[in-house]
Amino acid sequence: MQCTRLVVRRDGAVAYVTLARPSVRNAFDATMIAELTTTFDELGRDAELRAVVLAGEGSVFCGGADLNAMRASLDLDEEANREDARAMSRMFRTIDRTPKAVVARVHGAALGGGAGIVAVCDIAITASDTRFGFTETKLGILPAVISPFVLAKIGASHARALALTGERFDAARALHVGLVHEVVASEPDLDAAVARVVHELGSASPTAIAATKALFARVAATAYDDTLELTARAIAAQRTSAEGQDGLRAFLEKRSPAWVRG
Ligand code: COA
Repeated sequence: MQCTRLVVRRDGAVAYVTLARPSVRNAFDATMIAELTTTFDELGRDAELRAVVLAGEGSVFCGGADLNAMRASLDLDEEANREDARAMSRMFRTIDRTPKAVVARVHGAALGGGAGIVAVCDIAITASDTRFGFTETKLGILPAVISPFVLAKIGASHARALALTGERFDAARALHVGLVHEVVASEPDLDAAVARVVHELGSASPTAIAATKALFARVAATAYDDTLELTARAIAAQRTSAEGQDGLRAFLEKRSPAWVRG
């Protein structure tokens, strides 16, 4: 799609999606929400794609929901507010369920919904001076739309401590709570760290990546007693698939599977 709030670049099997509203610290308004939803939906259906890298233009990754647009919400009734929130929720859900590995390159700050975006990425890499925060309570609102993703990513203990205070926290704490997975010394080091992860993903089976994400989501929503059959079916389907067969044979025959890139 033609985007006004995003820059989408394709380099082989990797898509680079950059939030591009640096003058408002990449805050997302209704237009950016629609563009992110459509873009991730399209990328998810692209069979040639292995990974998506999500980054921010300018001095920060993302300052969260657009507070100027929210000013307009002061005049909206409750149902109109619900409709806004549903659109935002669909954006987070679409990124969360993208059947590709999604890597976040997080610099400067990730606040409110910006921290929510980090939570829906599979792998998040940040620089040591990045500031994070679930700041909504400081604004008199709630981290509502992002709550399923934040709870799933960092657990209730850390989510409650951080969301109730609304405090800003540093990269070391983001790593400690599991919101990010790697901290590099400074922003210029992020590209090499992202490239290393993208390279690693190039030797993982694309259908296994998609099936793993789908399975983890289903297991999280399934009663323990029902996971035996669910997981047995998932592994049986993958073992009998083309990539499952090629991967196991390739290991035994000491060769690379056909899907390996780079
Ligand atoms: N929505 C709308 N505009 C935002 C914004 C947001 N979430 N975050 C930043 N901006 C705007 C500022 O209003 C400012 O606009 P102006 O130039 O017209 O005054 C511009 O972006 C630059 O912001 P500034 O605070 O001067 O930049 P900074 O680099 O010093 O700090 C942040 C960047 C992100 C740390 C800071 O802007 C911030 O704390 N933003 C609010 C984050 C937040 O609590 N979000 C939760 C939303 S639910």
